[in-house]
Amino acid sequence: MRTPIIAGNWKLNNTISEAVALTTELKGLVTDCTGVEIIVAPTFTALHAVSGVLKGSNIHLAAQDVYWEDSGAFTGEVSAPMLKDVGCDYVIIGHSERRQYFGETNESVNQKVKAALSHDLKPIICVGEQLEDREAGRTETVIEDHITGGIADLSDAQLLSSVVAYEPVWAIGTGKTATPAQAQEVHSLIRKLLTDAYSDEVASQTRIQYGGSVKPENAAELMAQPDVDGALVGGASLQAESFAEIVKSAL
Ligand code: 13P
Repeated sequence: MRTPIIAGNWKLNNTISEAVALTTELKGLVTDCTGVEIIVAPTFTALHAVSGVLKGSNIHLAAQDVYWEDSGAFTGEVSAPMLKDVGCDYVIIGHSERRQYFGETNESVNQKVKAALSHDLKPIICVGEQLEDREAGRTETVIEDHITGGIADLSDAQLLSSVVAYEPVWAIGTGKTATPAQAQEVHSLIRKLLTDAYSDEVASQTRIQYGGSVKPENAAELMAQPDVDGALVGGASLQAESFAEIVKSAL
């Protein structure tokens, strides 16, 4: 019932020509993939060129962040209407790297989510605990805090246009993937939180991606978990072949 969704977060990587080459190769590898939503998230500077390559393909474009104001004196920021203008359908919001290094909070995440939704951009809302949270038994508290803060005041329809990405911080870029059981445990907690805040019907239709050292070798068993609806992929999305393999493991 939930279409799997695989997104490549390229983070701070690739010049425009590298981004175009990666997109062109990927496009060729996934042309026949149906029944799965495919997304790439290049840097802001490469969005326009990648958008051109993606025209008419089955791959959607995402940005890695957005500001909540539409325009004005906010030096260095990029707004939701600008992302729509360049061809984005999705935007990643509240990634742990933004929370860790750039002062992102639940409040700013929530403002950005609302701004994205009001311009018909689908937010991929990231949540996840740090290693010390997990070791101190605080995983549930942190996830609940990120979920309730990030999705505050969204309508049923707005939540259904959103995607949640569970990314345990200790698994990002470390090669230490969460086990399928660990991922499922938190994904089912997230679905329960959504059920409590919305309804069983809404929660059961909301997609929850897993992210953190997803590779072709572990993607299938992660996505076989009942509440894991796809993957948010960092490192392995920088190679067209490995990302395409991950996409295919969702079919
Ligand atoms: P890695 O796949 O490199 O661990 O990164 C995950 C991630 O942060 C995706 O947003």
